[in-house]
Amino acid sequence: QAKTLFDKNILLIGFMGAGKSTVSAKLSELLAMEIMEMDAHIQEKEGMSIKEIFAVNGEEYFRNCESNTLIELREKKHMVVSCGGGVPLREKNVELMKNSGYVVWLTATPEAIYDRVKDSTERPLLNGNMNVPFIQNLMESRREKYERAADIVIDTTGKEIESICEELLQKL
Ligand code: S3P
Repeated sequence: QAKTLFDKNILLIGFMGAGKSTVSAKLSELLAMEIMEMDAHIQEKEGMSIKEIFAVNGEEYFRNCESNTLIELREKKHMVVSCGGGVPLREKNVELMKNSGYVVWLTATPEAIYDRVKDSTERPLLNGNMNVPFIQNLMESRREKYERAADIVIDTTGKEIESICEELLQKL
């Protein structure tokens, strides 16, 4: 199993606040794999925060940055990739992710998500919409896309990072 793991990347997907960044960091440490934080990578490349990219260039431009990052990733192996929450929205991205490695979908209840993101000012899609019903609706509208992309699903609600990683490694 170790060999097959190292031949591929591990990509984490899921809604904002699902735990992609936290789990990626821990996982890359446990497996001694390099990490790529997609949002951070895009921010660095564009010289702007995600919020600024949305405000200045618009969402479509940002979505193109995400697709381009996945294309860059084709050259890479044994990386843990924390994808932005909207990456699976494009069919083309789903294909690129599947070709790149194992896709792990982290889920949580809308209430748990709300609790984790409620103080965030850096998520333009939740700006002015920071409430459970909005989160629940957006999650529902994306469910099918996440589902289609995922090889593995893990519910993170109420779980410690250690047990999430343990479950993930068992399922890989
Ligand atoms: C987005 C999720 C964000 C970020 C952007 C859009 C989305 O990433 O890419 O604000 O469409 O779900 P996180 O999931 O890391 O918050």
